[in-house]
Amino acid sequence: MKIAERTQVKQAKGLIVANWKLNGSMAMATDWLADFNELMHSHPLKEVTIVVCPPYPYIPLLSASALRVGAQNISLHDQGAFTGEVSTAMLADFNVEYVIVGHSERRTLFSETSDMVAKKAALALMSGLTPIVCVGETLEQRDSDCTFKVLDEQLAALLAQLSPVQCSKVMIAYEPIWAIGTGKTASAEQADAVHQWIEKWFMDHGVPSEFSVPVIYGGSVKPSNAASILSKPSIKGVLVGGASLKAKEFFEIANAWHVASHDE
Ligand code: PGA
Repeated sequence: MKIAERTQVKQAKGLIVANWKLNGSMAMATDWLADFNELMHSHPLKEVTIVVCPPYPYIPLLSASALRVGAQNISLHDQGAFTGEVSTAMLADFNVEYVIVGHSERRTLFSETSDMVAKKAALALMSGLTPIVCVGETLEQRDSDCTFKVLDEQLAALLAQLSPVQCSKVMIAYEPIWAIGTGKTASAEQADAVHQWIEKWFMDHGVPSEFSVPVIYGGSVKPSNAASILSKPSIKGVLVGGASLKAKEFFEIANAWHVASHDE
């Protein structure tokens, strides 16, 4: 599918993304897929785009299914002597359509800077992949009223690498670091305020108003809170870690998009 077509799809539908992180096995991935397909068969979810981002080895298994597939990271390099790296072109060979870049775990545990994240987003776009660029603040930064300063730095790095029109082909995932894997979710109101700020930030920085940049939310999303989060029109989908490892829970989260009202 061409990027322009994908952009239309992502704007029309909710984007529900599973981030398996360093979890799973061949047996788990096979069972997960069978369970998820069965649920989709009995209750098709037409208004959402489902993307699964497994560890690299399970990509071929998932990309042979009807689901869309994403990677959790990409190399900054195209090819060459970079042991252990995987390029965007290699992922495109396996029908990978999305890639998560700048997840806070990569920023903190693997020292990825905002500049590196922005370069990865640019590389992904060049290979026809949609980058899901993660941004978000720590608890300390939120408590010291620095949330928007941190986001401004992370987004400005993106704009240094991409034109405003290219930015409109990116998805942003707002993932407050204090909410990731902690069980503490941002309230729908807290997330909505940041999502609206990010949307306005892009408009103020020259992204044409006809192309809004979709912002999804991530951080302890689970079946019990998904409908409330997804009820906000500024929240165009969710990025789900822990709760995506169980097909039934992930399906219930995706179903919450249908339950939530979206009167824009
Ligand atoms: P979580 O992770 O849902 O387990 O909090 C979200 C993420 O890290 O993308």
